Amino acid sequence: MNKLREVECEDGSYYVAETAIVDPNADVGPETRIWDYAHIYAGAKIGKSSMIGAGVHVESGGILGDYCKVQRGVVIYGGVSAGDYVFFGPNATTTNDRNPRSFGPWQKTETTIGTGASIGANATLIAGNEIGDLALVGAGAVVTQPVQPGQLVVGNPARFAGWVNVAGEVISTDEAMQPDQVREYLIDPRLAIGEYIKNSAF
Ligand SMILES: CC(C)(COP(=O)(O)OP(=O)(O)OC[C@H]1O[C@@H](n2cnc3c(N)ncnc32)[C@H](O)[C@@H]1OP(=O)(O)O)[C@@H](O)C(=O)NCCC(=O)NCCS
Repeated sequence: MNKLREVECEDGSYYVAETAIVDPNADVGPETRIWDYAHIYAGAKIGKSSMIGAGVHVESGGILGDYCKVQRGVVIYGGVSAGDYVFFGPNATTTNDRNPRSFGPWQKTETTIGTGASIGANATLIAGNEIGDLALVGAGAVVTQPVQPGQLVVGNPARFAGWVNVAGEVISTDEAMQPDQVREYLIDPRLAIGEYIKNSAF
């Protein structure tokens, strides 16, 4: 395994691969690990104990919470704010201008991603669509509408495909009826995730 360089920060140290770049004014929390060729820009913010995979870019104004896992090739643009325990599959991407041009002003639209939400491999989040707590975006989905907490969406454009439990498994496909289990874990997603981790064998 490649050796990571220890960098002191407030409350401890974070760890960075030799080939990764962390700009001087980036804010990275303790115990976070940043792998090869990743770039964390000045003005980006990453919480504690997160994993930032190879080649990931977190641009200025991009925010990631604590305990996030971001797989290789993901881009988090400025204006994107992900909560704690958020997962990004490989090559998932965010966007921050809904009508981009190479010329003229950049019109930034913000996107919020809730606690414990997961974004599947190669998914694309169109700016301005909130992803709810513990929601799951399927691999390859293109998210063009807000995703409700606890829901699974798939496809292009992404559409409801089920309600998921804390483990991310589909427990119902009746969109109109939010399962009790979902209602309960959404009362305090952090607590529900903590319980899940405590009761899991990994
Ligand atoms: C969406 C997902 C959670 C569904 O998993 P599942 O509940 O086990 O679903 P199944 O495999 O039983 O498939 C159910 C249906 O959804 C379809 N489907 C599954 N994943 C899909 C996706 N990503 N996009 C579109 N349709 C999908 C299947 O084709 C199937 O359709 P059918 O009923 O018409 O045959 C899963 O397929 C997925 O995309 N997970 C994310 C994986 C990922 O990105 N991991 C990153 C870490 S490496």
